Amino acid sequence: MIDLLRKTPPSWAEHAVSRLPELVADHATCELQAAVFALALVGRYPGDPLLVDRLSALAAEELRHFRKATKEARHLGARSHPRRSNPYVSTLRAACRSGREPDQGLDLLLTGALIEVRSHERFLLLVPCLSAEPRLAKLYAELAIAEERHGPAYLDLAERHAGKEAARARLAELLVVEAKALEGPPDGPVAVHSRA
Ligand SMILES: [Fe+2]
Ligand SMILES: [Fe+2]
Repeated sequence: MIDLLRKTPPSWAEHAVSRLPELVADHATCELQAAVFALALVGRYPGDPLLVDRLSALAAEELRHFRKATKEARHLGARSHPRRSNPYVSTLRAACRSGREPDQGLDLLLTGALIEVRSHERFLLLVPCLSAEPRLAKLYAELAIAEERHGPAYLDLAERHAGKEAARARLAELLVVEAKALEGPPDGPVAVHSRA
């Protein structure tokens, strides 16, 4: 279980729902990036059977989410846009240590966990704001159930990778980075991980 340090205010969801095509198109990109990230870890740690099994299954699930979100984005008339940066994810990745194990794998797995937990929190906020879009409300409610499993799945792999104590200590540090990544007034386009 991970308790985020900074709660997303309901105003984020109200604003996001006012620009649904933008939000859902960004969400589709996030799902694709989640699948790619999980598969990159599978490729990086082929000697860890549990990680390979769990993250390849997770990647397949994220890819199904990508297909659903893409379909909805098209339905909303969202314009396809080139792959764009995600400042929130970039901040977390920049905090990851590299070059030495188990630190490198630990940080990658923990940032994976944090992104999943934040996404889950935000999907839950969206659902009650989507009464005018029942199909999307149903989709985000379904996805929230799936994403709720992903954060703990990454955290468990992180604890196995580096030991429970080291994982918990580093998680406390990365939670601060995660909260700071969302600090400041809203800026730029509406996005799953935009500041609020
Ligand atoms: Fe997903
Ligand atoms: Fe996920």
